[in-house]
Amino acid sequence: MRQTKPHPVTLLLMTLAINSWPCTFASDNNGGKPLVTPILKDASTSLYTIPIKDSHPLVLDLAGPLVWSTCDASHQTFELYDPICMVANQHTLPKCWMHDGHGKPFASTKCLVHPYNPLTGKCAVGDLTRIQLSASATDGQTQLYPVALSAFSSCAPDTLLSSLPVGAAGVAGLSQSELALPTQVASTQKVAKIFALCLPRGGQGAAIFGGGPFHLLPPWLGDISPEPTIPFERNLGLSQGYFFKAKGISVNQEPVPLNVNEFVIELSTTAPYTALRPDVYRALVHAYDVATSGYARITPPVAPFEICYDLQKFSYTRVGYGVPQIDLLLEGGGGWTIFSANSFVEVNDRTACLAFVQMTQTADNGPTPAMLMGGHMMEDNLLVFDLEKGKLGISGLLWWFRTNCANFNFTGTT
Ligand SMILES: *[C@@H]1O[C@H](CO)[C@@H](O)[C@H](O)[C@H]1NC(C)=O
Repeated sequence: MRQTKPHPVTLLLMTLAINSWPCTFASDNNGGKPLVTPILKDASTSLYTIPIKDSHPLVLDLAGPLVWSTCDASHQTFELYDPICMVANQHTLPKCWMHDGHGKPFASTKCLVHPYNPLTGKCAVGDLTRIQLSASATDGQTQLYPVALSAFSSCAPDTLLSSLPVGAAGVAGLSQSELALPTQVASTQKVAKIFALCLPRGGQGAAIFGGGPFHLLPPWLGDISPEPTIPFERNLGLSQGYFFKAKGISVNQEPVPLNVNEFVIELSTTAPYTALRPDVYRALVHAYDVATSGYARITPPVAPFEICYDLQKFSYTRVGYGVPQIDLLLEGGGGWTIFSANSFVEVNDRTACLAFVQMTQTADNGPTPAMLMGGHMMEDNLLVFDLEKGKLGISGLLWWFRTNCANFNFTGTT
């Protein structure tokens, strides 16, 4: 193993190598079919996992720049000066650089990476390695055949698993970075840099990496994947996560008075409920309170929520309780209508609460969005993330089509 200091020419070569890096590891071509994997919701943490690492689930993290997991002692490592090492460290959070292992940056000749636990906010240091993942090729309707793929990942100590579901081996980052899962699948499988996420309330949801149609039963629904039309906001700091702009919110089609003309929404699969910046939170809760003044309340409300209702007094509709809808007016003229399935949470047999919480802390990795949309609000909506066009597609609540995210047909082969 070499142990030289980087020479200016070496740095230049590294830069050149990074510009052409997809060619350096795009090898496991399986014929360009998208991959499908089930999504499970862990009951005790409300986190979503995918069983792609030898059936050891990885937790989905829309903001995560890497795939990381615990490693065997015999794992493969990379040289410090391997170009992929710089790619793997491009989106490291500043606070993670302070972590041990980097006091003396050139003390190791192995490539080290900085896995991050989005639940605890803890960083660690681990070897860059490759792991084998397994999923199924799909035509968007069913599983066709099993596919094994190799992916760059970071090793992590067992201690970094704290707050993750029991049995989870790590985190699958789904952000727009080079070593997050969507781009790695696109490179190795020769498929589009597009993925679709259908988060389940219960049962098995589905994620498809690589684009193409997305079918849910019953069969006559056909392809239900929404057209990506909502532009992602870029240049919002280091995070490679998914941000987009909203122009306003309404409750029961009445605009909620806000003291801003626009605000940023970030999507998060690691927050259970949607957190709002205090000014937006107060305005929305007030508007909802007024719009539901005639509804039977449960007092005191069940923390952390502020308004709770007697759910036995609610009427029912196809999309859940008959309560005022919330609309997010998005940049580009589109909207996202939030029905009670996504805006209410049943905290017990009798009580349903407005499922928003007030933001308490600022983001580690970029500007704090005004709305951090949690998993509960995205469940049973099909979301298409088109990383090539930089746009998001939203189906709206699938209950309108009398289906839900647990209706992908996984009963076929594999
Ligand atoms: C699910 O897919 C399998 C083939 O993979 C097929 O035989 C079966 O009919 C499908 N189920 C439904 C309900 O369409």
